[in-house]
Amino acid sequence: MNFELTINAIQDTASDLEVIIVVDGNFEHRFVQDKELLEKAKFKATQDETCLLLEKDRLYVGSEDLASNNIRTAVAAAIRVAQSKAYKSLKIASYAGEVNRTENLQAMVEGLVLGSYSFERYKNTKSETTLEDITISMEDYSGWTQDIQKCAEALNVAQIIAEATNFTRDIVNTTPDDCYPEIMADIAKKMAKKNNLVCKILKPKELREQKMETLLAVGRASRHKPRVIHLIHKPENPQCVVTLVGKGLTYDSGGLSLKPSEFMATMKSDKSGGSAVIGIMKAVSELNLPIEVHGFIGAVENMIGGDAYKPDDVLYAKNGKTIEIRNTDAEGRLVLADTLCYAQQEVKSDYIFDFATLTGASVVGVGHYTSSVMGNSDAVKDLIIRSAKEAGEFATKLDFNRYLKKSLKSEIADICNISNTRYGGAITAGLFLEEFIDEDHKAKWAHIDIAGPAFVEHSWGENPHGASGAGVRLMTKLISSLVKN
Ligand code: BES
Ligand code: ZN
Ligand code: ZN
Repeated sequence: MNFELTINAIQDTASDLEVIIVVDGNFEHRFVQDKELLEKAKFKATQDETCLLLEKDRLYVGSEDLASNNIRTAVAAAIRVAQSKAYKSLKIASYAGEVNRTENLQAMVEGLVLGSYSFERYKNTKSETTLEDITISMEDYSGWTQDIQKCAEALNVAQIIAEATNFTRDIVNTTPDDCYPEIMADIAKKMAKKNNLVCKILKPKELREQKMETLLAVGRASRHKPRVIHLIHKPENPQCVVTLVGKGLTYDSGGLSLKPSEFMATMKSDKSGGSAVIGIMKAVSELNLPIEVHGFIGAVENMIGGDAYKPDDVLYAKNGKTIEIRNTDAEGRLVLADTLCYAQQEVKSDYIFDFATLTGASVVGVGHYTSSVMGNSDAVKDLIIRSAKEAGEFATKLDFNRYLKKSLKSEIADICNISNTRYGGAITAGLFLEEFIDEDHKAKWAHIDIAGPAFVEHSWGENPHGASGAGVRLMTKLISSLVKN
């Protein structure tokens, strides 16, 4: 998809199709030239509602207001309609918002790139989309005059972030037979080479040397052996250091605590946290952010077999703690425990964030659209929630408490891998992870459970069916916000 910015008025811009956003049901605005036709079509201009006037080559879409998050989903809806027709090019004016900022331009470009995504690797008949060129006119809905240089920068940033999100979506959508730990490591390596990142891969031999026995146990019954991937973005004179850790379960069958079939399907998406980390590393390197960023991914497949780890096993984590296994389907926290320990051994950072499709309980608690944020520092959790909001993702806090912590007690080991209560499962999983955070990282760490939004079964907002790339926009926004000018 090619983007162009023009200072020409929208009417003087050549294109096959014009997209017009009807804001807050205002059909009197000068951009809305087809009021009567739209009324005839019973177009109400509700959020994301579209109306294509084929004879006019004009596509209308509704948005409640000029908030960036609404503009993003409106244009995503519009581009899907445009792609279903034979248009080659599209033009749209600017909708900079109540305040003249580049935020809405960024949201618009993201909406167009994210909304037009489709995953067709396994389809013999691919959809024949012809739409390639998008021209954005600087003529603004509210009459703002905009700085073209700033707009061009915003466009570039938006394209990098949205394409990194689509890159993450591609990894997650790939089937477990085509994307197992070794392949995930290859994908990371290839991206690292292209983007000048350092990439280190730990294979079973190195994982054993590093005493990551818990991670190895989870992967033991699989014919695809685990990998730990370490990606490094190291600019000169970095302003601070951020560590990212991702759960990369290329498949989660549940292991011997086997999942019922209806819960097993879609578990290719259990690598969403790790895939998000790869996407974030791609974005931060392309944005040239003056922040040192380390991405660690625990890539493992959780399977059954004669060699499988078992409920009743006691495993030794990298930090020496013993873990009583009572459910092999609570495997993500085991993989993360060792990966978090390794990450902290390798890097002393100012922030450490982990991303994981960790619990069904998070989905039950906060729904399919929202990530759960846990940790010990309100400031860090608030930073994440603020960044999510600005990036157009949903995230909310789940607070720890000492009573739930006790539910992880084991009679025979230091800790149990599941809690003894049915309730608060997202929090108890977060509390389990906390056991593997060093004292000096305790207040710098947050855990982000993306089990809800990572995989979309019914398209919403800018997300088509399949992987959403949850976490990529949120974290790229957060890391960008750490940059001091
Ligand atoms: N990968 C799952 C969590 C999950 C569930 C992600 C649904 C996305 C959608 C995780 O490994 C798991 O199975 N967790 C168990 C934990 C339980 C055994 C304590 C769960 O949530 O049921
Ligand atoms: Zn599981
Ligand atoms: Zn899992």
